[in-house]
Amino acid sequence: MTRVGVDENLAAELLTDFPAEAEIVRLPRTILSPLEVDFWILPFYRRDAEASFRQLRGVKVAQSLMAGVDWILPWLPAGVTLCDGRGIHDISASEWVLAAILASMKRFPLYRDLQNKQQWRGFATVTDGFLSETGAQRGQYTVLGEDLGGKTVLIVGYGSIGAAIEARLTPFGVTVERVARSAREAPKVSAVSELRELLPQADIVVAIVPLTEATRGLIGAAEIALMKRGALLVNAARGPVVATDALVEALEQQRIRAALDVTDPEPLPAGHPLWTAPNCLITPHIGGSTPGFIRRAFQFGARQVRRFMAGEPLENVVTDAGY
Ligand SMILES: NC(=O)c1ccc[n+]([C@@H]2O[C@H](COP(=O)([O-])OP(=O)(O)OC[C@H]3O[C@@H](n4cnc5c(N)ncnc54)[C@H](OP(=O)(O)O)[C@@H]3O)[C@@H](O)[C@H]2O)c1
Repeated sequence: MTRVGVDENLAAELLTDFPAEAEIVRLPRTILSPLEVDFWILPFYRRDAEASFRQLRGVKVAQSLMAGVDWILPWLPAGVTLCDGRGIHDISASEWVLAAILASMKRFPLYRDLQNKQQWRGFATVTDGFLSETGAQRGQYTVLGEDLGGKTVLIVGYGSIGAAIEARLTPFGVTVERVARSAREAPKVSAVSELRELLPQADIVVAIVPLTEATRGLIGAAEIALMKRGALLVNAARGPVVATDALVEALEQQRIRAALDVTDPEPLPAGHPLWTAPNCLITPHIGGSTPGFIRRAFQFGARQVRRFMAGEPLENVVTDAGY
């Protein structure tokens, strides 16, 4: 009998797709004595997952239901096959990116701030770093928001979510540039070595890479300096992919704008300069989290358990221990 370890509080309806022949082992948040588990479904981004793992015996597969496994790799032994949740975040994360872009272009955060103050104000009296820039105000016309149509969007990390972002952007009539580790064709994806050449052309830059040693600080002071004045930087990847100090400086100088679902540090402490930086929309790392995502995650987990029990190759293998 295959023992599948899940969180003790997991709703029964999320287990309906799991094979009846599997034994579901509900794991308490604090595991006091060792428990036998063959296939471990990790809790979502819980810092105590490592402590839980130390109390598990016989784990052959650790299945993360998140796309990023940067927080698991440092402590999971090489003898355990690790699988990630690539694909199951595509809808939720790409929709967040689209919403963040549109909200920023249409200046919803600014208007929401004015609504909270019960103020009906035109731009003439609104203090915003970009209003006096060439292009933002044209002749006699006051600009109230911006179009997404016609803009150039650079997707840094053209993987599963990156492609889903492009699919959602396409109907808006934008030009999409794509960057990944290595170049490829159809569609044309540029190598990350070309990032600096591409940055000055983009109106919107979306970071959606995994956090690795190569991507830590990928968008640093030099890259931010290459962005167009007034361009929007969207970080839906991981906070440390963008150099926080350089970002704060550029925002405070009103050179660029930002929409962030992730920050460094996280959670962002009260009083941190990012909270009050101008033209910066922040959500607390919720981009991937929707009810639909949770359902898709456990449906995927159930399919992985079936593959494991049938001796078939698993999907989304990050480190293969050949169980
Ligand atoms: N905000 C949220 O709630 C949320 C939700 C889900 C995911 N995420 C983040 O999004 C990340 C991407 O997820 P995904 O499912 O799209 O992953 P994925 O399918 O593995 O795609 C990752 C992409 O990043 C590229 N990449 C990796 N290292 C790079 C580097 N050094 N320079 C440039 N590009 C690099 C890869 O290039 P190649 O194609 O050449 O390998 C690939 O195109 C996750 O790892 C996670 O950190 C955040």
